[in-house]
Amino acid sequence: MASGGSEEERMPDSDSPGFSSAGVFALVLFAAACVVGWILRPGIPPTDDWAGVFFFLLVIILTEALPIELPRFRGTVSVSFAMCYSSVLLFGPFMGGLLTALGSLRKRELTGEVPVLEVVFNRSQLFLAGASGGVLYFSLIDALPSGTPVLAAGATMVGGLGYFAVNVGSCVYYMALKNKMSFWYLLQADIRWLVPSYLGLLPIAYLNVAVYGAVGKVGVLFFLLPLMVGRYAFRMYSELRDVFVSTISALAAALEARDPHTSGHAERVSHFAVKIAEKMEFSEERQELLQYVSILHDIGKIGIPDEVLRKPGKFTEEERARMQKHSRIGADILGNIKALREGASWVLYHHERYDGDGYPQGLKGEEIPPEARILAVADSFDAMLSQRPYKAALTLEEARAELKRCSGTQFDPEVVEVLLELMEDPDLIPGSFDSVSEAAAAGDVPSEREGRLS
Ligand SMILES: [Fe+2]
Repeated sequence: MASGGSEEERMPDSDSPGFSSAGVFALVLFAAACVVGWILRPGIPPTDDWAGVFFFLLVIILTEALPIELPRFRGTVSVSFAMCYSSVLLFGPFMGGLLTALGSLRKRELTGEVPVLEVVFNRSQLFLAGASGGVLYFSLIDALPSGTPVLAAGATMVGGLGYFAVNVGSCVYYMALKNKMSFWYLLQADIRWLVPSYLGLLPIAYLNVAVYGAVGKVGVLFFLLPLMVGRYAFRMYSELRDVFVSTISALAAALEARDPHTSGHAERVSHFAVKIAEKMEFSEERQELLQYVSILHDIGKIGIPDEVLRKPGKFTEEERARMQKHSRIGADILGNIKALREGASWVLYHHERYDGDGYPQGLKGEEIPPEARILAVADSFDAMLSQRPYKAALTLEEARAELKRCSGTQFDPEVVEVLLELMEDPDLIPGSFDSVSEAAAAGDVPSEREGRLS
């Protein structure tokens, strides 16, 4: 069953927006919420069902308290949307908007863990979302002939889409301002997974209102049951997915245990590859697959004997040829894992070079899959910054110069350019790199470098 999106939860809550453009936007929304609230103040229609209002407030608090963590997303979904929108339909745009904004208030928003402007933004946009949905719905209901359930259902859908548009649009705009990212990119990434969730919960909101009218509060409690079952099923899916990710990481760790000098390499390559793919605006699904495949990019090395894999010095020609087989062995392994099969070619070609001098097939330029070109850069970038028995770690400046030198020959110039831009961000380098980078910066590592496969 689909779960509904609770957009206010998707707000990053790390650093305060201050009076940045995101902060100004939060204040603008607050002003808009005050004006809209003042206009709608009498309630359309007015409510005298205060017991019902209080009941729905409790139900929204309950459903909001049980969110589900989303994979790879900085947020959660909850099934509260159905209950919030039901309260809008039952108690009008003003009261419904208030219930939506107040019922979903989180403990950490009250304890000061979330910056004040972010709380202001969250509450304002939720009030405006509920109120917009309500105004749309009641305007349509007033304009349509009464007593036609199909038209009422249509009005419910339109009102719900209005709620959705204000909720998601304002959240995505806020996040784009705060994180200095493209609004349209964030929007398309969100809409793809949020629309089915919202659409799935709209009919539930419609039926919920009918049940409340016919049976009362007990009927709504019965409605909560399938929503909670849906939540449980989704949580099971998330946990299964976590097991899958842990298994992949364990496989990579098993490989790294054979070659301690590459400790953490797979995770860091995955980190760099996803950062690059994100900046190149790959779809969320593509980024997720690349994340897993990158962790396993050298998994084929489990088929390479220890005397070659752990050799500290240069390879002989024969050893080099044996080592080069790892990309094909890795591709064969991934080809047998249904969820990762699509990434088998990325592993197969992650040692191809942009100028055609790589292996195993000597592919050139765009003949190489884009993900493999990203992997090649991420893999080499990590190797540059790592200290190995046969080479010193480069400093960031040296790595930058090396990337530029190899752009267009070993590496795809577009990918290099993206990585060079990303290097301006100090958060690009994971914490596990600190000791290596510091050592390199301090000159505490041997200076000789030998040509060798990474
Ligand atoms: Fe490799």
